[in-house]
Amino acid sequence: MEKSKQNAQYTFKYNKSLGRHGWLRLTPAYSVKIVQQIIENLDYKPQNVLEPFSGSGTTELVCANLGIPSVAYDINPFLAWFAETKTKQYVAEITQEFTDTTENIIENIGAFNPCEYPPIYRIERWWGAKQLDFLARLKSAILDIDNASVRDLHKIAFCRTLISLSNAAFNHVSTSFKDSTENSYFDDSIGIEMYDSVCHTIAETAKIQPIVEPIIINANSMNLDSCGACFDTVITSPPYPNRISYIRELRPYMYWLDYLSSSDAASALDWETIGGTWGSATSKLSSWKYKSGLLPEYLLDIADNISKADNKSAELMAQYVLKYFDDIAKHLRSVYECMCDGGTVHYIVGNSNFYGNTVPSEKIYSDLLVAAGFQNASYQIVRKRNCNKELFEFLITAKK
Ligand SMILES: C[S@@+](CC[C@H](N)C(=O)[O-])C[C@H]1O[C@@H](n2cnc3c(N)ncnc32)[C@H](O)[C@@H]1O
Repeated sequence: MEKSKQNAQYTFKYNKSLGRHGWLRLTPAYSVKIVQQIIENLDYKPQNVLEPFSGSGTTELVCANLGIPSVAYDINPFLAWFAETKTKQYVAEITQEFTDTTENIIENIGAFNPCEYPPIYRIERWWGAKQLDFLARLKSAILDIDNASVRDLHKIAFCRTLISLSNAAFNHVSTSFKDSTENSYFDDSIGIEMYDSVCHTIAETAKIQPIVEPIIINANSMNLDSCGACFDTVITSPPYPNRISYIRELRPYMYWLDYLSSSDAASALDWETIGGTWGSATSKLSSWKYKSGLLPEYLLDIADNISKADNKSAELMAQYVLKYFDDIAKHLRSVYECMCDGGTVHYIVGNSNFYGNTVPSEKIYSDLLVAAGFQNASYQIVRKRNCNKELFEFLITAKK
């Protein structure tokens, strides 16, 4: 898999046209192809895969389509719900009811009372008044559906629609907003056409059934010790040490679907998330102290160099790097406890750079895996992440 070009086939872009994998865009998602290749390159057929950082559920959907049982964890309740919905087997009655209820919503959207708007900060930047009113009526119509599986499929279509109707541009890590006047003409027929088309795509792909259903758990994968299972393979892509906040990126979905109701709740969840520093998580980070003794000396030196950079955030970034790897060290130790002897782990992760100081994630992960008890840790480049020659994605592997 040694690749040094910016291979889009190894990112979420490759997944958009691949059936259920394309249901909802999540930028840090990795590609179906990477998971398929890892599985193909194993010298055994996995019987029980662990995905500790499920995200949009890429690993478990690939496994489910191949008939491989898997268990996936994610700390984010919205993502755990999304991955479960995306990987479920749907009987014909459910997909038919989904199509019937889509027709009903489309015919009667005008008759539904709008639900309350979600408490998103400066919501008017995200949606024009007419789009907001349409989405609020659409949500009421969806919540009116009795069958939970049918309702969940509609919620996915709702997520797709609310993003298509928003002024947000997700072409950069920090969301930017179009001028709302650019998007000002709107009436129900536009929203209905969009919703109908999304529902059609979802209905078609929901009819293609995974061979097995994975188990998806909304929990912290730093504490897997008591999971009671014995996994033969870990395939995952954890957060990278690059300050991306999944909560921040996912907030429009999370607020609309009632997974978040305040910025305090968003910051609290981000603090629990490895690598999260959004909102008040930043001030918590500044008073956090490294105590575990789990990190290698050279990483402490790297953090020390980062802290001395000529930048007002230098000390905070040094703390960020230490906390990130301290969490990863704890996570890897807990993964070790629930692996079968001879089992293999496969982590896709990027390196990073703070003020000219490279943070060599590939080496640090390898060393932390060995410190946790794993053997034969090694890494290879999967792809170059951007034009900056120094940023790569790596595949790190080891064996118990
Ligand atoms: C890079 S994303 C995973 C992307 C995923 N492979 C996909 O294709 O969508 C990392 C995920 O780790 C989750 N996460 C971060 N900290 C966690 C923790 N302590 N326990 C469980 N999940 C966590 C985040 O919510 C995020 O969904």
